[in-house]
Amino acid sequence: MDLAMLLRSATELLPADVLHYLQATAGPDSDADEKAWQSVALVPRVLQGVDPVDTRTSLAGRSWATPIHVSATAAHGLYHPEAEVATARAARKAGALFCYSSSATLEVTAFAAAAGGPFWAQVYVMTDRGRTRDYLARCVAGGAEALVLTVDNPGRIGDPPFRTVTSGFDVRPGNYPGWDWPTMSAHITAALTPASIGELATESGLPVWVKGVLDPRDAAAAVDAGATGIIVSNHGRRQLAGVVTVAVVLPGIVDAVGGEVPVLVDGGIRSGTDVLRALTLGATGVGIGRPALWALAVGGPTGVTTLLDDLTADLRRGMAGLGAGTIDGIRDHRSP
Ligand code: FNR
Repeated sequence: MDLAMLLRSATELLPADVLHYLQATAGPDSDADEKAWQSVALVPRVLQGVDPVDTRTSLAGRSWATPIHVSATAAHGLYHPEAEVATARAARKAGALFCYSSSATLEVTAFAAAAGGPFWAQVYVMTDRGRTRDYLARCVAGGAEALVLTVDNPGRIGDPPFRTVTSGFDVRPGNYPGWDWPTMSAHITAALTPASIGELATESGLPVWVKGVLDPRDAAAAVDAGATGIIVSNHGRRQLAGVVTVAVVLPGIVDAVGGEVPVLVDGGIRSGTDVLRALTLGATGVGIGRPALWALAVGGPTGVTTLLDDLTADLRRGMAGLGAGTIDGIRDHRSP
Protein backbone atom coordinates (compact mmCIF):
# COMPACT_ATOMS: atom_id res chain seq x y z
CA MET A 1 0.00 0.00 0.00
CA ASP A 2 1.21 3.48 -0.90
CA LEU A 3 1.00 5.49 2.31
CA ALA A 4 1.52 8.80 0.53
CA MET A 5 -1.59 8.03 -1.53
CA LEU A 6 -3.50 7.03 1.60
CA LEU A 7 -2.60 10.38 3.17
CA ARG A 8 -3.72 12.19 0.01
CA SER A 9 -7.08 10.41 0.14
CA ALA A 10 -7.50 11.25 3.83
CA THR A 11 -6.58 14.86 3.09
CA GLU A 12 -9.33 15.10 0.48
CA LEU A 13 -11.88 13.45 2.73
CA LEU A 14 -11.40 14.92 6.21
CA PRO A 15 -12.70 18.32 7.37
CA ALA A 16 -9.88 20.87 7.49
CA ASP A 17 -9.88 21.20 11.30
CA VAL A 18 -9.71 17.43 11.84
CA LEU A 19 -6.88 17.11 9.32
CA HIS A 20 -5.04 19.95 10.99
CA TYR A 21 -5.31 18.29 14.42
CA LEU A 22 -4.30 14.89 13.04
CA GLN A 23 -1.23 16.07 11.13
CA ALA A 24 -0.05 18.73 13.59
CA THR A 25 3.55 18.76 14.84
CA ALA A 26 5.17 21.13 17.33
CA GLY A 27 7.80 22.43 14.91
CA PRO A 28 8.34 22.73 11.15
CA ASP A 29 10.48 19.58 10.87
CA SER A 30 7.41 17.34 10.65
CA ASP A 31 9.05 14.60 8.56
CA ALA A 32 12.32 14.34 10.52
CA ASP A 33 11.46 10.92 11.95
CA GLU A 34 10.46 9.54 8.57
CA LYS A 35 13.76 10.78 7.10
CA ALA A 36 15.77 9.37 10.01
CA TRP A 37 14.37 5.88 9.42
CA GLN A 38 15.32 6.17 5.76
CA SER A 39 18.94 6.77 6.72
CA VAL A 40 19.15 3.47 8.63
CA ALA A 41 20.91 1.11 6.22
CA LEU A 42 20.30 -2.63 6.23
CA VAL A 43 23.10 -5.19 6.03
CA PRO A 44 21.85 -8.52 4.68
CA ARG A 45 23.21 -11.84 5.82
CA VAL A 46 23.40 -14.63 3.25
CA LEU A 47 23.44 -18.45 3.45
CA GLN A 48 21.04 -18.26 6.39
CA GLY A 49 18.62 -20.96 5.22
CA VAL A 50 15.73 -18.54 5.60
CA ASP A 51 12.58 -20.33 4.53
CA PRO A 52 9.89 -19.82 5.69
CA VAL A 53 9.85 -16.29 7.09
CA ASP A 54 7.78 -15.86 10.26
CA THR A 55 6.65 -12.43 11.50
CA ARG A 56 5.06 -13.71 14.72
CA THR A 57 6.10 -11.95 17.91
CA SER A 58 5.55 -12.65 21.59
CA LEU A 59 4.71 -9.69 23.72
CA ALA A 60 3.41 -9.59 27.25
CA GLY A 61 2.46 -13.25 27.28
CA ARG A 62 0.64 -13.26 23.95
CA SER A 63 1.64 -14.20 20.45
CA TRP A 64 0.87 -11.66 17.71
CA ALA A 65 0.91 -12.20 13.94
CA THR A 66 2.99 -9.06 13.50
CA PRO A 67 5.38 -6.89 15.55
CA ILE A 68 3.38 -3.83 14.38
CA HIS A 69 0.82 -2.39 16.82
CA VAL A 70 -1.64 0.49 16.67
CA SER A 71 -0.36 3.28 18.95
CA ALA A 72 -2.74 5.13 21.27
CA THR A 73 -4.36 8.07 19.49
CA ALA A 74 -7.25 10.23 20.68
CA ALA A 75 -10.82 10.52 19.44
CA HIS A 76 -11.30 7.91 16.70
CA GLY A 77 -14.88 9.18 16.37
CA LEU A 78 -13.38 11.95 14.25
CA TYR A 79 -12.63 9.37 11.57
CA HIS A 80 -15.30 6.66 11.80
CA PRO A 81 -18.75 6.33 13.42
CA GLU A 82 -17.71 3.16 15.30
CA ALA A 83 -14.66 5.01 16.63
CA GLU A 84 -12.15 2.87 18.62
CA VAL A 85 -14.24 -0.29 18.22
CA ALA A 86 -13.66 -0.14 14.46
CA THR A 87 -9.89 0.26 14.85
CA ALA A 88 -9.52 -2.39 17.56
CA ARG A 89 -11.49 -5.00 15.60
CA ALA A 90 -9.43 -4.19 12.51
CA ALA A 91 -6.18 -4.64 14.44
CA ARG A 92 -7.38 -7.95 15.87
CA LYS A 93 -8.17 -9.19 12.37
CA ALA A 94 -4.57 -8.46 11.37
CA GLY A 95 -3.28 -10.18 14.54
CA ALA A 96 -1.96 -6.85 15.86
CA LEU A 97 -2.06 -5.31 19.32
CA PHE A 98 -4.38 -2.31 19.75
CA CYS A 99 -3.51 0.37 22.26
CA TYR A 100 -6.57 2.32 23.45
CA SER A 101 -6.12 6.04 24.28
CA SER A 102 -7.49 7.48 27.52
CA SER A 103 -8.62 10.38 25.32
CA ALA A 104 -10.80 8.02 23.30
CA THR A 105 -14.21 8.87 21.94
CA LEU A 106 -15.67 5.74 23.61
CA GLU A 107 -15.54 5.15 27.36
CA VAL A 108 -13.23 2.23 28.14
CA THR A 109 -15.72 -0.35 29.49
CA ALA A 110 -18.17 0.39 26.66
CA PHE A 111 -15.28 0.11 24.20
CA ALA A 112 -14.07 -3.18 25.68
CA ALA A 113 -17.53 -4.77 25.69
CA ALA A 114 -18.09 -3.87 22.04
CA ALA A 115 -14.56 -4.55 20.73
CA GLY A 116 -14.23 -7.88 22.50
CA GLY A 117 -10.49 -8.55 22.06
CA PRO A 118 -7.30 -8.05 24.07
CA PHE A 119 -6.09 -4.46 24.34
CA TRP A 120 -3.69 -2.22 26.24
CA ALA A 121 -4.93 1.03 27.78
CA GLN A 122 -2.95 4.27 27.65
CA VAL A 123 -3.08 6.56 30.68
CA TYR A 124 -2.58 10.26 31.20
CA VAL A 125 -2.37 10.95 34.93
CA MET A 126 -4.67 13.83 35.88
CA THR A 127 -3.97 16.43 38.55
CA ASP A 128 -7.24 15.23 40.09
CA ARG A 129 -6.00 11.74 41.02
CA GLY A 130 -9.57 10.64 41.76
CA ARG A 131 -10.29 10.92 38.03
CA THR A 132 -7.26 8.75 37.26
CA ARG A 133 -8.17 6.13 39.90
CA ASP A 134 -11.67 5.96 38.45
CA TYR A 135 -10.29 5.53 34.92
CA LEU A 136 -7.85 2.82 36.06
CA ALA A 137 -10.65 0.89 37.79
CA ARG A 138 -12.64 0.99 34.56
CA CYS A 139 -9.59 -0.16 32.54
CA VAL A 140 -9.30 -3.15 34.87
CA ALA A 141 -13.05 -3.84 34.70
CA GLY A 142 -12.87 -3.66 30.89
CA GLY A 143 -10.07 -6.23 30.79
CA ALA A 144 -7.08 -4.12 29.73
CA GLU A 145 -4.03 -6.40 29.75
CA ALA A 146 -1.46 -3.65 30.34
CA LEU A 147 -1.24 0.09 30.94
CA VAL A 148 0.77 2.47 28.79
CA LEU A 149 1.77 5.45 30.92
CA THR A 150 2.44 8.40 28.64
CA VAL A 151 5.10 10.53 30.27
CA ASP A 152 6.01 13.07 27.63
CA ASN A 153 4.79 16.58 28.20
CA PRO A 154 1.13 16.75 27.24
CA GLY A 155 -1.03 19.36 25.64
CA ARG A 156 1.34 21.11 23.24
CA ILE A 157 -0.73 20.53 20.14
CA GLY A 158 -4.11 21.57 21.39
CA ASP A 159 -7.20 19.49 21.37
CA PRO A 160 -9.39 17.63 18.95
CA PRO A 161 -11.73 20.08 17.23
CA PHE A 162 -14.89 18.59 18.64
CA ARG A 163 -16.78 21.84 18.52
CA THR A 164 -16.27 22.54 14.87
CA VAL A 165 -16.05 19.02 13.54
CA THR A 166 -18.37 18.69 10.59
CA SER A 167 -18.55 14.89 10.58
CA GLY A 168 -21.46 14.93 12.99
CA PHE A 169 -19.83 12.63 15.58
CA ASP A 170 -19.83 13.44 19.25
CA VAL A 171 -16.14 13.08 20.03
CA ARG A 172 -15.96 14.43 23.54
CA PRO A 173 -13.64 12.29 25.69
CA GLY A 174 -15.72 9.30 26.81
CA ASN A 175 -13.76 8.65 30.00
CA TYR A 176 -14.32 12.09 31.47
CA PRO A 177 -18.03 12.92 31.49
CA GLY A 178 -18.69 16.59 31.96
CA TRP A 179 -15.31 17.63 30.57
CA ASP A 180 -14.82 18.91 27.10
CA TRP A 181 -11.46 18.79 25.38
CA PRO A 182 -9.69 21.95 26.48
CA THR A 183 -10.71 21.22 30.06
CA MET A 184 -9.38 17.71 29.88
CA SER A 185 -5.90 18.27 28.54
CA ALA A 186 -5.36 21.21 30.88
CA HIS A 187 -5.76 18.74 33.76
CA ILE A 188 -3.04 16.31 32.67
CA THR A 189 -0.32 16.48 35.31
CA ALA A 190 3.31 17.23 34.49
CA ALA A 191 4.38 16.18 38.01
CA LEU A 192 5.24 12.54 37.27
CA THR A 193 8.31 10.82 38.72
CA PRO A 194 9.58 7.22 38.49
CA ALA A 195 7.51 6.50 41.64
CA SER A 196 4.37 7.16 39.57
CA ILE A 197 5.06 3.89 37.71
CA GLY A 198 4.87 1.78 40.87
CA GLU A 199 1.79 3.66 42.06
CA LEU A 200 -0.03 2.90 38.82
CA ALA A 201 1.03 -0.76 38.93
CA THR A 202 -0.09 -1.15 42.54
CA GLU A 203 -3.38 0.62 41.97
CA SER A 204 -4.30 -1.40 38.87
CA GLY A 205 -2.47 -4.70 39.34
CA LEU A 206 -1.46 -4.37 35.67
CA PRO A 207 1.96 -4.28 34.00
CA VAL A 208 2.99 -0.69 33.16
CA TRP A 209 4.76 0.30 29.93
CA VAL A 210 6.30 3.77 29.91
CA LYS A 211 5.76 5.71 26.66
CA GLY A 212 7.60 8.83 25.61
CA VAL A 213 11.14 7.94 26.68
CA LEU A 214 14.03 9.45 24.66
CA ASP A 215 16.99 9.42 27.10
CA PRO A 216 18.67 6.16 28.20
CA ARG A 217 18.90 7.48 31.78
CA ASP A 218 15.13 7.90 31.95
CA ALA A 219 14.67 4.42 30.48
CA ALA A 220 16.95 2.96 33.18
CA ALA A 221 15.13 4.88 35.93
CA ALA A 222 11.76 3.67 34.64
CA VAL A 223 12.93 0.06 34.60
CA ASP A 224 14.38 0.40 38.11
CA ALA A 225 10.99 1.74 39.20
CA GLY A 226 9.22 -1.34 37.87
CA ALA A 227 8.33 -0.60 34.23
CA THR A 228 7.42 -3.75 32.31
CA GLY A 229 8.72 -2.23 29.08
CA ILE A 230 9.75 1.02 27.43
CA ILE A 231 8.12 2.74 24.47
CA VAL A 232 10.58 5.05 22.73
CA SER A 233 8.43 7.85 21.30
CA ASN A 234 8.45 11.59 20.66
CA HIS A 235 4.65 11.58 20.40
CA GLY A 236 4.78 11.90 16.63
CA ARG A 237 6.78 15.16 17.02
CA ARG A 238 3.70 16.79 18.58
CA GLN A 239 5.19 17.88 21.91
CA LEU A 240 8.56 19.56 21.44
CA ALA A 241 9.84 21.53 18.44
CA GLY A 242 13.29 20.31 17.45
CA VAL A 243 12.95 17.03 19.34
CA VAL A 244 15.45 14.26 18.51
CA THR A 245 14.28 11.49 16.19
CA VAL A 246 13.41 8.11 17.69
CA ALA A 247 15.71 6.29 15.24
CA VAL A 248 18.69 8.19 16.65
CA VAL A 249 18.00 7.46 20.34
CA LEU A 250 16.65 3.92 20.01
CA PRO A 251 20.03 2.07 20.00
CA GLY A 252 21.21 3.84 23.17
CA ILE A 253 18.00 2.97 24.99
CA VAL A 254 18.21 -0.65 23.82
CA ASP A 255 21.79 -0.77 25.12
CA ALA A 256 20.68 0.67 28.47
CA VAL A 257 17.62 -1.52 29.16
CA GLY A 258 17.04 -3.88 26.23
CA GLY A 259 18.59 -6.78 28.11
CA GLU A 260 16.05 -6.37 30.91
CA VAL A 261 12.77 -5.38 29.28
CA PRO A 262 11.29 -5.15 25.77
CA VAL A 263 11.68 -1.82 23.98
CA LEU A 264 8.96 -0.69 21.55
CA VAL A 265 9.19 2.38 19.34
CA ASP A 266 6.81 4.63 17.40
CA GLY A 267 7.08 7.72 15.21
CA GLY A 268 7.48 8.07 11.45
CA ILE A 269 7.13 4.37 10.61
CA ARG A 270 5.74 4.39 7.06
CA SER A 271 6.71 1.05 5.50
CA GLY A 272 7.60 -2.54 6.27
CA THR A 273 11.20 -1.53 5.57
CA ASP A 274 10.96 1.06 8.38
CA VAL A 275 9.68 -1.68 10.70
CA LEU A 276 12.66 -3.80 9.70
CA ARG A 277 15.01 -0.88 10.37
CA ALA A 278 13.58 -0.39 13.86
CA LEU A 279 13.94 -4.09 14.65
CA THR A 280 17.59 -4.15 13.47
CA LEU A 281 18.20 -1.33 15.97
CA GLY A 282 16.90 -3.58 18.74
CA ALA A 283 13.19 -2.76 19.03
CA THR A 284 10.90 -5.66 19.94
CA GLY A 285 7.99 -4.07 18.07
CA VAL A 286 6.81 -0.82 16.50
CA GLY A 287 3.69 1.32 16.67
CA ILE A 288 1.91 3.32 13.99
CA GLY A 289 -0.15 6.40 14.86
CA ARG A 290 -1.31 8.61 12.00
CA PRO A 291 -1.29 5.98 9.20
CA ALA A 292 -3.88 3.90 11.10
CA LEU A 293 -6.12 6.98 11.30
CA TRP A 294 -5.68 7.78 7.59
CA ALA A 295 -6.72 4.19 6.86
CA LEU A 296 -9.66 4.38 9.28
CA ALA A 297 -10.92 7.58 7.64
CA VAL A 298 -10.47 6.34 4.07
CA GLY A 299 -11.33 2.64 4.30
CA GLY A 300 -12.93 2.10 7.71
CA PRO A 301 -11.97 -1.07 9.63
CA THR A 302 -11.20 -2.90 6.37
CA GLY A 303 -8.76 -0.14 5.50
CA VAL A 304 -6.95 -0.51 8.83
CA THR A 305 -6.69 -4.30 8.51
CA THR A 306 -5.39 -3.95 4.94
CA LEU A 307 -2.81 -1.39 6.05
CA LEU A 308 -1.51 -3.66 8.84
CA ASP A 309 -1.52 -6.72 6.54
CA ASP A 310 0.32 -4.82 3.80
CA LEU A 311 2.96 -3.45 6.18
CA THR A 312 3.45 -6.95 7.56
CA ALA A 313 3.74 -8.43 4.04
CA ASP A 314 6.30 -5.73 3.20
CA LEU A 315 8.18 -6.60 6.41
CA ARG A 316 8.11 -10.30 5.48
CA ARG A 317 9.64 -9.55 2.05
CA GLY A 318 12.28 -7.42 3.76
CA MET A 319 13.12 -10.18 6.24
CA ALA A 320 13.68 -12.60 3.37
CA GLY A 321 16.02 -10.11 1.70
CA LEU A 322 17.82 -9.41 4.95
CA GLY A 323 18.28 -13.10 5.67
CA ALA A 324 16.23 -13.18 8.86
CA GLY A 325 13.60 -15.89 9.26
CA THR A 326 12.25 -14.73 12.60
CA ILE A 327 11.61 -11.43 14.38
CA ASP A 328 14.19 -12.32 17.04
CA GLY A 329 16.69 -13.15 14.27
CA ILE A 330 16.45 -9.59 12.91
CA ARG A 331 18.45 -8.30 15.88
CA ASP A 332 21.45 -10.17 14.50
CA HIS A 333 21.52 -7.64 11.67
CA ARG A 334 22.82 -4.53 13.35
CA SER A 335 23.11 -1.56 11.01
CA PRO A 336 26.63 -0.13 10.55
C1 FNR B 1 -1.35 10.91 19.25
N1 FNR B 1 -0.51 10.33 20.20
C2 FNR B 1 -1.03 10.04 21.46
N2 FNR B 1 -0.25 9.41 22.40
C3 FNR B 1 -0.75 9.08 23.60
O1 FNR B 1 -0.04 8.52 24.41
N3 FNR B 1 -2.05 9.37 23.92
C4 FNR B 1 -2.89 9.99 23.05
O2 FNR B 1 -4.07 10.23 23.35
C5 FNR B 1 -2.37 10.37 21.77
N4 FNR B 1 -3.16 11.02 20.86
C6 FNR B 1 -2.68 11.27 19.61
C7 FNR B 1 -3.52 11.84 18.65
C8 FNR B 1 -3.08 12.02 17.35
C9 FNR B 1 -4.01 12.62 16.34
C10 FNR B 1 -1.75 11.66 16.99
C11 FNR B 1 -1.24 11.83 15.58
C12 FNR B 1 -0.90 11.13 17.94
C13 FNR B 1 0.86 9.88 19.84
C14 FNR B 1 0.85 8.47 19.24
O3 FNR B 1 0.61 7.51 20.24
C15 FNR B 1 2.21 8.09 18.60
O4 FNR B 1 3.24 8.30 19.52
C16 FNR B 1 2.52 8.86 17.31
O5 FNR B 1 1.36 9.11 16.56
C17 FNR B 1 3.52 8.07 16.48
O6 FNR B 1 3.90 8.78 15.35
P1 FNR B 1 3.26 8.54 13.88
O7 FNR B 1 3.13 7.07 13.66
O8 FNR B 1 1.95 9.25 13.89
O9 FNR B 1 4.27 9.18 13.01
